Amino acid sequence: MKLEYTIGGLAEKYKFIYNAVKKMSNNNTQIKVLITGGAGFVGSTLVPLLLQKGFDVTVVDNLMYHQDSLLGNALAKNFHFILGDTRDEAVMKSAINNADAIVHLAAIVGEPACRMHPDLAKSVNLEASKLINKLRSKDQAIIFASTGSNYGKVDGICTEETPLNPLSLYGETKTAAEKQFLEKGNCIAYRFATGFGISPRLRLDLLPNDFAHRAVHEKFIAVYEKDFRRTFIHVRDMAKAFLFVLERINEMKDNIYNVGHESMNLSKEALINKIKEKTDFHAHFAPVGHDPDQRDYEVSYEKINKTGFSIDISIDDGIDELVRAFKMKLASVPYSNLI
Ligand SMILES: NC(=O)c1ccc[n+]([C@@H]2O[C@H](COP(=O)([O-])OP(=O)(O)OC[C@H]3O[C@@H](n4cnc5c(N)ncnc54)[C@H](O)[C@@H]3O)[C@@H](O)[C@H]2O)c1
Repeated sequence: MKLEYTIGGLAEKYKFIYNAVKKMSNNNTQIKVLITGGAGFVGSTLVPLLLQKGFDVTVVDNLMYHQDSLLGNALAKNFHFILGDTRDEAVMKSAINNADAIVHLAAIVGEPACRMHPDLAKSVNLEASKLINKLRSKDQAIIFASTGSNYGKVDGICTEETPLNPLSLYGETKTAAEKQFLEKGNCIAYRFATGFGISPRLRLDLLPNDFAHRAVHEKFIAVYEKDFRRTFIHVRDMAKAFLFVLERINEMKDNIYNVGHESMNLSKEALINKIKEKTDFHAHFAPVGHDPDQRDYEVSYEKINKTGFSIDISIDDGIDELVRAFKMKLASVPYSNLI
């Protein structure tokens, strides 16, 4: 009798996980994914991909950039949008209640935006993350969009074991948020390279996007710290990485991954030269600025490579896309971040 009760209790406890895993292995249709910040640069590319793969997708976003980046998904019956703030407990409680897994993207992104709005950055990047972590049960996996900015300046090759040394408010808030998700468990932390490429919510503050836009429209770029080695990933490969983990949460959970590719590690000067292959402009190398995150590192992607994940879009193809897209678009556009 006692044994039966124990087994019954255990079965009840793990029914949720079992059902979610079963759904994942058979058919994505029933898997409910909550995406915070889903109307952003990454989210607005991720949402249609997950819908197309049959996931049931709910986005919570406050549309702080007045973006209409998700309009194209309104026909999909498996898409749900909540206009709300991740700092609002009532909104998040009901959104999280319904989710099998959470992709947490909502943030004030990049140091310039965080520096201009430090209280907002702390409350959105850290306090709202704590709220989400408190509200999720341990059965609800969270995939956290973390960042290479957590590392700060790195000598040698940067792996997931490299000590974190964030040098900016952005890096500090992302590092602290990542830590508390990992401590609770059932978390995958993706430390992404710098994203680039065209997305329904376009960002021009990302280095390759910024350079390509200036190259096309201003024909001139002033470049500081030209030898700094940076690392990049196309936004569609960022979205692909989320799909990849959602299809194998149990294999990948409780881990941190650098997400990018070795072929996309290149100095700013090398990036400029790649853009020159696609369009004519003048680059002036001079000490006219300073990267607050001091990102000058070569990143190893061995750990994510070993899972079987690979990128589809090379730096050359990504730059080609940017140049072609910016030639189609007027020069003065309001697509910047919160700066
Ligand atoms: N793009 C990159 O290069 C990059 C690299 C590493 C990590 N990341 C991480 O990926 C995530 C997404 O970045 P992105 O490039 O899409 O940025 P983004 O600024 O385009 O998207 C952020 C989204 O969050 C929403 N948002 C902001 N505050 C909110 C709040 N309080 N409540 C609800 N929604 C809110 C915004 O409206 C926006 O849609 C971020 O967490 C970022 O730190 C991005």
